[in-house]
Amino acid sequence: MSRVRTLLRTAVGLKFVVAVTGLVLFAWVAMHMLGNLKTFLGPAEIDAYAAGLKTLGAPFVPHGFALWGVRLLLLACLVAHVGCAAKLVARNRAARPIPYARYVPRESTFPARFMLVSGGILLVYVVLHVLHLTTGTILVDPFVEGKVYDNLARSFRNGAVALFYVGAVAVLALHLYHGVWSLFQTLGLDNPDRNRKLRAFAAISAIGLFAGFAAVPLAFLAGTLE
Ligand code: HEM
Repeated sequence: MSRVRTLLRTAVGLKFVVAVTGLVLFAWVAMHMLGNLKTFLGPAEIDAYAAGLKTLGAPFVPHGFALWGVRLLLLACLVAHVGCAAKLVARNRAARPIPYARYVPRESTFPARFMLVSGGILLVYVVLHVLHLTTGTILVDPFVEGKVYDNLARSFRNGAVALFYVGAVAVLALHLYHGVWSLFQTLGLDNPDRNRKLRAFAAISAIGLFAGFAAVPLAFLAGTLE
């Protein structure tokens, strides 16, 4: 335990935690996006898929057990990811208490400088999203538990809600583009010979996630899905 504490006092240790938890969150987000695409197969498919998530592991584990296990794992990863990232930012700021008179970034890209802001926006988005589509407290009326397709249709026929989602997943794509690239660097996988390929992988996965997530609200808004 004391070794873990010692590691978490170093920048390398903090970066490692941010990278590994980021990888778990990235994998879950990719699965969520692929699952959402079942909406295009119709109400029966997406509703059965959502119901299936609740009975995951049956009959060996009680109803909802595996789902709650995944939820707790994700929450732990999110807390560790945000906590260690915040600590790294605070350390960097403490190392330069007097800001640059005029900061002109030469190497960093826009997504890299936007990480703190995009991370904050995503945190707010996840809270609103759970209140919207998991508990049905906001943005959808009436909300019917288990009727995922109808809840989505009722929500995304409203242009403001659909565009809010598209904006949020654009922010997610920017966050992931830099996050995936940083992950390769933290894990020591970057190398001048393959950096172009690693950057391309980061870009393709960010664009793919954006397109996959945005497709559902845009399809309801355009009337392709009804
Ligand atoms: C257009 C994009 C998205 C759509 C249509 C969508 C749809 C949904 C739906 C229908 C649920 C409820 C599932 C159920 O109760 O059975 C859900 C839950 C959730 N979504 Fe999304 N989602 C989108 C994007 C995202 C993104 C980008 C994130 C994370 C950054 C995210 C994180 C979550 C979380 C944390 C839950 C709660 C899971 C749980 O209750 O266990 N979603 N989403």
